[in-house]
Amino acid sequence: MECKVHFCRMENGVTVHYGKKERTLEWIHEGLLRVYEKKNSENLVHLNYRRGPVDFRAWEENGQVMMTAGAYAIVVDENLVLHITKDGREYFEEYEGRDTMIYETDKEFDLAKLEGHTTAESLADFKTQINVCLFDDRDRLYGLGDKAAHLNRRDYEYISWNTDDPTEHNETYKSLYKSINYLLVNHHGTEYYGMFYPSSYKCVFNLGRYSKKFFYIGSKQGEYDYFLFLGDSPKEITANYTELVGRPLFTTRKMLGYHQSRWSYDEKEMQEIRAKSKEYGLPLDYIHLDIDYMDHYKVYTVSDSYLSDLRALSENFAEDGIGLITIMDPAVKAEEGYPLYDELTKQGGFAKKDGEDYINLVWPGESKYPDYFKPDAAAYLTKVTKEFVKKYRLEGIWCDMNEPASFRGPLPDDVEFSDGTNTYYHDEVHNLYAEYMARCVAAAFEEENRRPTVITRAAFATTSPFTTSWNGDNQSLWEHLGVSLPQVMTMNLCGFAVNGVDIGGFGNEATKELVIRWLEANVFSPFFRNHSAKNTRYQEPYAFDEETLRIYRKFLQLRYDFLPYLYDLLRGANAEGVPMYRPLFYDYPADERVKELNDEVMVGSYVLLAPVVRQGERSRLVYLPEGSWIDYFTGKEYQGGQEYIVPMSLAETGVFVKAGTMLPMFRNVCHIRKQDLTTLHL
Ligand code: GLC
Repeated sequence: MECKVHFCRMENGVTVHYGKKERTLEWIHEGLLRVYEKKNSENLVHLNYRRGPVDFRAWEENGQVMMTAGAYAIVVDENLVLHITKDGREYFEEYEGRDTMIYETDKEFDLAKLEGHTTAESLADFKTQINVCLFDDRDRLYGLGDKAAHLNRRDYEYISWNTDDPTEHNETYKSLYKSINYLLVNHHGTEYYGMFYPSSYKCVFNLGRYSKKFFYIGSKQGEYDYFLFLGDSPKEITANYTELVGRPLFTTRKMLGYHQSRWSYDEKEMQEIRAKSKEYGLPLDYIHLDIDYMDHYKVYTVSDSYLSDLRALSENFAEDGIGLITIMDPAVKAEEGYPLYDELTKQGGFAKKDGEDYINLVWPGESKYPDYFKPDAAAYLTKVTKEFVKKYRLEGIWCDMNEPASFRGPLPDDVEFSDGTNTYYHDEVHNLYAEYMARCVAAAFEEENRRPTVITRAAFATTSPFTTSWNGDNQSLWEHLGVSLPQVMTMNLCGFAVNGVDIGGFGNEATKELVIRWLEANVFSPFFRNHSAKNTRYQEPYAFDEETLRIYRKFLQLRYDFLPYLYDLLRGANAEGVPMYRPLFYDYPADERVKELNDEVMVGSYVLLAPVVRQGERSRLVYLPEGSWIDYFTGKEYQGGQEYIVPMSLAETGVFVKAGTMLPMFRNVCHIRKQDLTTLHL
């Protein structure tokens, strides 16, 4: 009997069958279609479904299944491949087959390796490979979180696998700290769609690296299952995406203030920061305590040789409006007699392998990994966090090393975690480990009716409701200053609103000019922290000279003047999924000139930042999109839709405000304390 395509209709979609193969198209609401052969497990990945009625028709015609819904017409052909048009024009198409996969092994490569070249290591042999057509050379692929790359990530390949790698990141780094399986695709000029792959297993996004004809998502363990966001604009697509994965945390207003940090600060240096900030009129809201404060790097302990009295210090700083935030790593030193270790051991609260607690090496030496997936262990760690925060009057917790990092090789795939009933293996849990840690820490604040002040390095797509984030160990390099803009913009497009990079660069030696330009370029970055590694040059506002101090003060003040505006944006991100900090195409989706504009940022809809990010430059080309724009500093008006060469001395950056904007502002505020915030200027 001849095999034919046929379908079964469900309330919200269809399942199409061809022989033994099937594909389901399920409408979640009119802007969101889920396409799958088999759904990925949602035991550990939590998505929020807003289901809405969708008026669709489905029928069979010429051996294919047809469906229409609003402007969209979908054809599922005899190979179960999807073709979607919107108002009759091509919009989204799966690409049939795996034919163009190229994983060549070059015989000469062994020779190249001897010189130190590395293979383009990749994942091959996928159980799942979702191929999607690239229509032409102008298709652009945005998304995938914190990669050290330009906005348009087309032609590269990325792997979702949370990775702690402190060497100098660049576009070719396939994996960084976060795994955010979301792409926003632009094609045919004005068309956009979004795609999300909801599996926590390692997967690869080959964005046209092997073929000009298609990009693909591949996974060895994940299922053929994706969400497709249909819509007319990046705004609509982003709102629907952030709704599904969870809108960003509504952290505190204070969190948007200035943070000063360095790996190695001791008490004396902290007092110096406080005194100098006061003396020089430098706004400051937080000082961070890095791992040095712990007793032998044992989490939830404080070394008395390093700090005389953390509680007293904290209270003392609070009098000046400065909050203390301590770092917290997941790994627990394996040492009998250390109460946290003993209690978690008693509870069976560590990850296991072959029936024994699994051990690897992190800062404290031989360490075990808490099983945050286990409700008892998680509740216990929330309790311990709550007590720790209370005891030392801490204002925030900074979660680090939560990929999880391990110094003696990666955790094997079969390390076991458990939710109390089911066992989950490391290959499924890895990308979610940081999220479950963040949930636990955020709960410690929520249980005290406080909005969480939590920062994380690693994350999965669904982590932003629990924590703010920074992008890990960058370096004091001009390239890393440049990439900070597309990185934070992309994180925001992916729903991580309060995100930022280490200002001045973490590793390597910062220079005066680099620090100044870095501050200017990141002056509206939602997470706003100067942080550096031990054994590098100090890069505090006053670490260089008078001129640096003067310029630094000017921009800290500018930041604080804009805080009411930024706080408003945070609310918008939390309530409606509107990115605080975004590429210009978000607001001007039809303007071809902004599709790959990596060094300008829209801060909300009304403020455009165009900083200098290259050494020695004292002017730059600024493109202003349609409308009239006012230079914030000079009041000069510019007509949009064109480029200008704008002079920018070392003390200047480009801030342009859309004409007609009423900006809510502070004046002369140095700390985010209620008593300092009595007047709003418009
Ligand atoms: C990691 C963090 C960095 C921190 C250091 C020491 O490298 O990314 O921010 O300073 O560990 O804790």
